[in-house]
Amino acid sequence: MRKLLAVILLLALLLPSALAEEAAPQVLVAFLSRAGENYNVGVAREGSASTAYAGYIEKGNTAMMAAVIAELTGGDLFEIQTVTPYPEDYASMLRVAQEEIDTDARPALAAQVENMADYDVIFIGYPIWHGRMPQAIYSFIEAYDLTGKTVIPFNTHEGSGQSGTQRVIEAALPGSTVLQGLAIRGKVAQEDPEQTRALIEPWLEGMNMKKANTGAEAEVLTASVTLTARVYGASGSWTLPVNAHFTKIDGQWIAHN
Ligand SMILES: Cc1cc2nc3c(=O)[nH]c(=O)nc-3n(C[C@H](O)[C@H](O)[C@H](O)COP(=O)(O)O)c2cc1C
Repeated sequence: MRKLLAVILLLALLLPSALAEEAAPQVLVAFLSRAGENYNVGVAREGSASTAYAGYIEKGNTAMMAAVIAELTGGDLFEIQTVTPYPEDYASMLRVAQEEIDTDARPALAAQVENMADYDVIFIGYPIWHGRMPQAIYSFIEAYDLTGKTVIPFNTHEGSGQSGTQRVIEAALPGSTVLQGLAIRGKVAQEDPEQTRALIEPWLEGMNMKKANTGAEAEVLTASVTLTARVYGASGSWTLPVNAHFTKIDGQWIAHN
């Protein structure tokens, strides 16, 4: 009988871990994006040399896309910023980006992801500049050991799509698993949140990257188990029901009274 009691108590202790699911991957959504004047979006500013084709935006297109990805994956956002900020003026930006390409620059970054080792999945987002990813994205991926991690590119553009950057990232990260990225028009990311979400959601679902339990759809499951324990005391033995309750919140089973 004592053996039975021990077995029952052990079972009650082990049950939560038996029910526990595999931990969700830790996701980082790193992105480079530029507020200011940009092509085909925003409102043209009086007196700007580039008003003919560029308007002013408060938040960059890729930043818009990154925010949706972070929301749907439950990932942490990290903005890749250079020590020397990029110009707000569109014409100057075109020139600076070309200079960085010509010199194969690695612009110094303003901050590092201190806990990169904690992340399993790294989304890397960027705009297309002159048919390429910004040189600062090389600075970013070369700053870490991303071996064994899953890397997923995403970008905005105004006609070039991914512009070959998928292959560039795959070649730069031979030790990582690079999944197929997603390119969205900057104008769509900036001005059409519904369309942006409609493009991002199936892409994430296809990679099984969408956080299972977000917002209103949060899944809360409960389970209760009643075990019978035989307890032995000085005056004899008696049977005692032991109730164990479990609730699944955010993919994890939690045991409680
Ligand atoms: C310097 C520069 C170069 C660009 N070159 C291209 C290009 O070659 N192909 C393209 O489709 N879009 C190009 N664009 C447009 C951007 O890719 C697009 O506006 C993008 O959404 C900007 O993202 P951001 O707001 O996150 O910086 C360029 C924009 C800039 C500022």
